[in-house]
Amino acid sequence: MKNEELTKLDQKYIVPTYAGKTVAFSHGKGCKLWDVEGKEYLDFLSGIAVDGLGHSHPKLVKAIQKQAANLIHTSNLYLIANQIELAKILVENSFPGKCFFCNSGAEANEAAIKFARKYGHTKAQNKDEIITMTGSFHGRTYGALTATGQEKFHKGFEPMLPGFKYAQFNDIESVKGSITSKTCAIMLEAIQGESGVNPAKEEFLREIHSLCNEKDILLILDEVQCGMGRTGKLFGYEHYGIVPDMVTLAKSLGGGVPIGAVIANENVSSCISPGNHAATFGGNPLAAKAAVVTLKIILEEGLLENATAMGNYLKDKLHDLKNKYAFIREVRGKGLMLGVEVNYSSKEILKECMDKGLLVGTAGENVVRFLPPLIIQKQDIDKGIKILEGVLANLK
Ligand SMILES: Cc1ncc(COP(=O)(O)O)c(C=O)c1O
Repeated sequence: MKNEELTKLDQKYIVPTYAGKTVAFSHGKGCKLWDVEGKEYLDFLSGIAVDGLGHSHPKLVKAIQKQAANLIHTSNLYLIANQIELAKILVENSFPGKCFFCNSGAEANEAAIKFARKYGHTKAQNKDEIITMTGSFHGRTYGALTATGQEKFHKGFEPMLPGFKYAQFNDIESVKGSITSKTCAIMLEAIQGESGVNPAKEEFLREIHSLCNEKDILLILDEVQCGMGRTGKLFGYEHYGIVPDMVTLAKSLGGGVPIGAVIANENVSSCISPGNHAATFGGNPLAAKAAVVTLKIILEEGLLENATAMGNYLKDKLHDLKNKYAFIREVRGKGLMLGVEVNYSSKEILKECMDKGLLVGTAGENVVRFLPPLIIQKQDIDKGIKILEGVLANLK
């Protein structure tokens, strides 16, 4: 079926929660995708920070095929060896603690919110308030949606849940002013993705960390987008020299197979007992295998180093474009999580890039977002930049 026909069927049968879909892909390899009509695209978006290993990574494909042939799902009523192996790798590469597995970023954040409140009720004099940041994005389920500090996502779906407060991102006085004797957790992204690729300032995150330690408040870092090597470190928080109490993960954790996770330190995980939380599919043998293999490839095949090197290379090229085109206001981000703020509609740039065979993302009205696979090489970056420059040169 061709793109046009699929577009019509999509409009007929799919609830319209996404706008502007006009292309269906049939297959991919590395940083490239091909649509159902054979057109080639360079992927600088990775399925919104999911395909960290690129498309059809041979080791991941082989592992998934083998696992699917052996066992796909059994439930968390039984031990799952792949899940245990995955938790061990995550804990050994973060901080002493335990993991809970689910299926998405929103679900990971829901679990972290519940764990924080359980901690507050059992270990911290019934504290139950959670502070999140303006401009944050934590997902679309009610806990995660309430935690999301952007009114536009709440509109039409009120009432939100009680017990959340929003502090100004990168303003420590605002965070201090939001803390009460009821605050059990502060939750934020080390780099805000959806609202425009905005990194937390070093001082800001460090001070929040100190405040949390001082006042027995849990620090939850939502690394759903910036984790799993995207910024050149396995976790975004590693850039800040701090260790949180909980980390949430999803997106590229399974290299494209849906899986989410919470890593919770012992102080938190010791508050959770059987029956407190669950997810039928969470960390099933297939998803956990995909995540184990993805993590091993990231850690053992130099992808963190590549994300740093290629991130710097791409950032330099984007800075060159900024020097050339006055409508580029700022280039920001870390590793392969980069945003370019423009005096122009980011959606329009996305559309033009797509027509010319380059997939990029947007973050808000004026930020073009770049989240290429962690395996990307210089020649693909050069090719992408050439397409982007062709698009920018024709704007105005
Ligand atoms: C930082 C962050 N948290 C949570 C989510 C929600 O993840 P999911 O769409 O898997 O529920 C996203 C999705 O973009 C995200 O960027």
